[in-house]
Parts: sequence; structure tokens; C-alpha cells
Amino acid sequence: MQRILLFLMACVFTVQLQAQTLTSPDKNLTFKFELKEKGVPSYQLTYKKKPVIKPSTLGIETKDVASFLDGFTVTKTELQSVNDTWEPVLGEQKTIRNNYNELLVTLTQKAQKDRVIRLRFRLFNDGLGFRYEFPKQKELNYFVIKEEHSQFNLAGDHKIFWIPGDYDTNEYPYTTSKVSEIPGLQKKATVQITAQTPIKEPSVQTPSMMKSADGLYINIHEAALINYPAMDLEVDAKTLRMKSHLVPDAVGNKGYMQTDAQTPWRTIIVSDKATDILASKLILNLNEPTKYKDVSWIKPVKYIGVWWEYFVAGKSTWAYGTENNVKLDQDFSKLTPNNRHGATTQNVKRHIDFAAEHGFDAVLVEGWNIGWEDWIGNWKENVFDFVTPYPDFDVKELQRYAASKKVKIMMHHETSASATNYERRLHPAFQFMVDNGYNAVKTGYVGQIIPRGEHHDGQWMVNHYIHVANTAADYKIMVNSHEAVRPTGLNRTYPNWIAQESARGTEFEAMGGLAPEHTTILPFTRLMGGPMDYTPGIFQTDLSIYGHGNRVNTTLVKQLAYYVTMYSPLQMAADMPENYLRFPDAFQFIKDVAVDWDDTYVLEAEPGDYVTTARKAKGKDEWFVGGVTDENPRTATVNFSFLPKGKQYIATIYADGADASYDKKPQSYTVRKVVVTPGSVLKQKLASSGGLAISIKEGSKKEVKDLPKL
Ligand code: NOJ
Ligand code: CA
Repeated sequence: MQRILLFLMACVFTVQLQAQTLTSPDKNLTFKFELKEKGVPSYQLTYKKKPVIKPSTLGIETKDVASFLDGFTVTKTELQSVNDTWEPVLGEQKTIRNNYNELLVTLTQKAQKDRVIRLRFRLFNDGLGFRYEFPKQKELNYFVIKEEHSQFNLAGDHKIFWIPGDYDTNEYPYTTSKVSEIPGLQKKATVQITAQTPIKEPSVQTPSMMKSADGLYINIHEAALINYPAMDLEVDAKTLRMKSHLVPDAVGNKGYMQTDAQTPWRTIIVSDKATDILASKLILNLNEPTKYKDVSWIKPVKYIGVWWEYFVAGKSTWAYGTENNVKLDQDFSKLTPNNRHGATTQNVKRHIDFAAEHGFDAVLVEGWNIGWEDWIGNWKENVFDFVTPYPDFDVKELQRYAASKKVKIMMHHETSASATNYERRLHPAFQFMVDNGYNAVKTGYVGQIIPRGEHHDGQWMVNHYIHVANTAADYKIMVNSHEAVRPTGLNRTYPNWIAQESARGTEFEAMGGLAPEHTTILPFTRLMGGPMDYTPGIFQTDLSIYGHGNRVNTTLVKQLAYYVTMYSPLQMAADMPENYLRFPDAFQFIKDVAVDWDDTYVLEAEPGDYVTTARKAKGKDEWFVGGVTDENPRTATVNFSFLPKGKQYIATIYADGADASYDKKPQSYTVRKVVVTPGSVLKQKLASSGGLAISIKEGSKKEVKDLPKL
């Protein structure tokens, strides 16, 4: 890796600096910093001469010391440019370019004995990142944050894809509206979720995706959320001003800081092309490289699970007993079995067999451990011990069996949001995993947080999730967290934190259904922060066959497309084995598809409408394409120019049948093989809430001769 570091200019100003500008390396973005009246810091951002963020002030209100809001003078500005590349452990691209121009402003508060803070601005071709820095100094050691006041003054009443501001959950469905309509829609958008704390003020969560009337795509989020609460955005519908709103702790404070300290980066990604938003690596670039010395044990995972049957089939449960009041120190073998326990040795073996036969890396097993009889709703601290199996789950035998079939069992640690209990038991829990051959854990935080009064997205829990990931690394364990704070690119720094849920995922298809457009929005929102364990791959979308009232609102082929459109190096085939066996030709795509990539090409995209993405498998001459549409049928265009020149390739095209639709004929599909070259272009019809999936390999001479050209 080559690092070119250019110090362009370093100036020390003794007089107050009026304004300082910065342009992006490609000159499309212009940034301006200035001090307003009374020494208030302010910035603005322009893309190809169109305003993105109008003059907006910055500042931090504190509790115990004087606030960092005004009375500043600029005492130093430093410019530098960086243009280098780096390689993620797992990712959408083998190599990521990190190219920006930076302005570091030192601000001095004369009235506070020359106390100093810094504002660091990094302008990339795809947007701006900025953060507050608090250097160690005589006049500043500890302080408590009351609120951060970072403004984002919008230049128009944009279309916005949003979920309401909340301290505890990000599992809301998306609402699409004008920014000015948010206050009127907030109540309706705040549907009921287990453990939620909606913000009273009109507000949205980040990543917040917007589109201006003049065609700019603007995405606001944050990067490197460490030792700080998550940021929601308050919305002033009249002035079209957004403003940071931090998640408080149990006593209402928002952040405990000790110098040297800094805030996470606030990110504004912008382009006139929607595809550029999805291709942006700005958030990853603003995260620190990993400090792990050995990363060889961090591997992509394709897995199945003893899981979907809990949601739809009605035949099995996480719990073993019929009781609803249990304690960890009691003898669980004396419980009255409910005879519907899912995680039995026999059922897990059946799944291991299936995984081995079809090339999956792992089997997730939920409900293996004692405590599920009363796991939710009691705000109980000691729900699980993470080391004691139910009497019908034979840990040693399953370890032996799985190892003999070269399959891993994926551990499940539902904490029921009792983070204190989990932290106390973390080392024995991870040691238990190592002793029994587990290398990955799915964690979960359903319910109200313990320590009581803390929130899922507050500083305490932010530190908890990182503590878990970091401790897991000591045991060479990969972590897939559910119900944790939304990701901010920390998978660069903690690459074993391989995926997160942190949004409304497939489970909600069994709990009322997801809107067909949901997965055309997620890549522009939740996935901007990092990989999502969306748990795709449901083939039996009509759930009435289980006597269940719901349906999965997609065609079968759209479920295939998700393996490409919803990036994650950890991907589940979430349906039950028997459903895959009914559609072996479609299942072949899930078996073939890669989960780690050399390159990604976002071919076409529009938030709320459609996404078509192509990717090249890591280290292989294989490519995969996924396309999804909302409730409207559409024709996707796949231009194969991403293929190398000079060879002929065989594309296996999985398409919605001519009569397919998500609500009437979801399982109608076709599979065909054609010869393609970089010059080929495919126009393919997608059904209502349908999809398109393609796998591409180099063709043998015979195949090229026998198969039709596209
Ligand atoms: C919610 C998770 O998202 C889901 O995947 C899991 O099965 C349940 N919690 C139980 O832990
Ligand atoms: Ca969940």
C-alpha cells in the first residue's frame, strides 16, 4: 500500500480568519468554513454549483464546563491532501481508494483561558466528513455533553426516505415524504416495536437518504461511532434545518468525554447519480484501519439455520419447557417439555447434513440454551448463562458430528438486552465456544436495556457492542449483532464484527410483511453504514401453507437477487431445507453465489424504486448480478461491459416468469443459459416486487458453441 501524503500548506494566523475554502480532488464539491458573528463556527457545501448544505453552524453544548458554541477565533488552519489505497479484510472491493483534501481548523476560546478545540473537515469526491476534536490541554480534561448542535441546513424541501428518531430501535418501516411533511407523518411512522423510545421532536434516524428537486442525492450519516452516543436528526420543517440529537443515558446526559477525545465523523455523501451513493466508500475511509495483527481467521460465511421455522411453521419454539417462570440455577431437565423444541440434537443434525450436502459453511442454532421460557418482557437481568444447553441438545455429539461433516455450528447469544449479564459472562461464554468448535456468534438485544435506563443507541451500549467485538477477536470469534446500534463502518476497524441486523429484516415478513419497496431503500440507508444480516432466501413466500396469515412480499427470484443487492460477507439462506429441495434449479444460485468480492459495479439504482448491481467474486473469474424492483414491474438493463475483454462467458439467468407477481404467482420463474461478452446488453422484465439474478462463468468451447448468444 502506498501512501502519498502531501502537506500543501500550514498557516498560523494570528488574526481572525474570515473564511477558508476547500475543493474535492475532482473539483465537483466546494466547501467553505467561516466564523459567524460572535465567533460561531459555520460551514457550507456545494456540488457542481448547487447548494447541498447551506450555511450551518457547529457547536457542542456541555453541562459542567463552558460550552463549545461561540466566542471562538481561528488560531490555525492546516491543509493536507491524501490519496492512497487500502484493502479491507472482507468487502465489496479488493482495493479501496482513499482520496481527500483536508482542512483542520484550530479554534480558540479567548474567554475560556485560550481553551482550544479543532474541527477536521475531509472533502472526498463523494462527499464531506467532519468531526470535533478536543486536544488534551491544561484547561480541558473532563466534560459532559448536554447536546451536539451540528446543523445541516437543507437547500430545499427534498424527498426523504426516513424512519423516525428513536433511542432504542431501528426496526421501523420506511416512510417516503417531503422533509416538510415529517412532523405530520411522524406518529404514523412510529409503529409499535418491542422496546422503543421515540424522540418527541420531529426527527429521523441516519443514514438519512434525500433527493432534491434538481436531482441531487444526499445522504447524511456518521462514521466511526466509538465512545459516543448515536446521532439522530431533529427536523425543523419550516426552515428545512436538520440538527444533531444525541441519544441520552439513564440520567439524561449525552456523552462523557475525557481529552484527548473526538466525536464520530458526520458524513454528507452527495452526487447527481444515485449509483454513486451506493458505490461510496467514504464512511469506511473515515474509520481507522484494524489493529488486529492476524485476520486470517476472519472468513466469509454462508449459512442456514434452525430459525425460520420458529417464525412461520408454528411447529417449533426456542423454549424447551411449558413453564413461564424459570431461574438459571434450577434443573431444566425437570421442566415439562413442550414437545415443540426446535434445537434438538436430531433437528440440528438434519440441518448439518443439508449444509454439508449443499456447501454451506455453518448452521445457526437458536434456542439451544436454557432460559427461553421467560426471556422477554420481564426486564430480567439473568435470563441466559450462554453455556448451559437444554437437555435435548447434545453439545459434544453435535460438535463431533458437525466437525466430521466440515460444517460449523453458529452460536446464538440472545442477551434479551441485559448487557450487564452478558458482559459478566462473556469470557466463559466465548471460552465455551472455543472449546466446542464454534467460530461465529449471532448476538441479540431484544427488549429494554439493562443497565436500566440506558438505551440501545447510547454511549454505554455503543461501548458495549465494541467491547463484545473486540473481546470476541481475542477468541478468534466473528460477531453478527442483531438489535445493536446502526453500523458506521466499524467493520473496517473490527473486521470480525462481520455483519449486523440493525434494521427491519426478513423476520418482519412473518410479522405483518415488508413493503415491496423496502429493499430498494435499505441499500441507500441502513447498508450505507455496513453489511446487513438481512436473512434472505425465502422460497415459500406464501406463508398460508403453514396456516400463517402473512406472506413474504416478493417473488422467489427477488429473494435470489438479495444475495447481490444487499451486501454482506455473512449471508443466510433463511428458508427451511425442505423448501430449497422443491426448487433445486433456483437453489443452485444460492449455492453458487459468492459473499466476498473483488469488485462491485452498481449498474442502475433509484431509492424506493430499483437497484441492479454486479459483483466479481473474490479471487475467481465469476460474476454475479442482482436486480430488484418495488411493486412496479420494470425492465432492468444489464450492460456486461464489466466483464474482461477477449473471452466468452456463460450467463445463467434466473428471471421472474412472464406471469409472475409477488402477490399472485411468486414462484413462477425461468432459468436459462446464454453466451455473453463485454459487449452484451440484457433487457430483462422484472415482475411486481420481482427480481433478476445472474451467475456468470467462463464457458467451455462446447458450451459456447451449443448455447445461444444473448
Ligand atoms: C430478533 C432477531 O432479529 C431474530 O433473528 C432472532 O431470532 C430473535 N431476536 C430471537 O433472538
Ligand atoms: Ca431483529
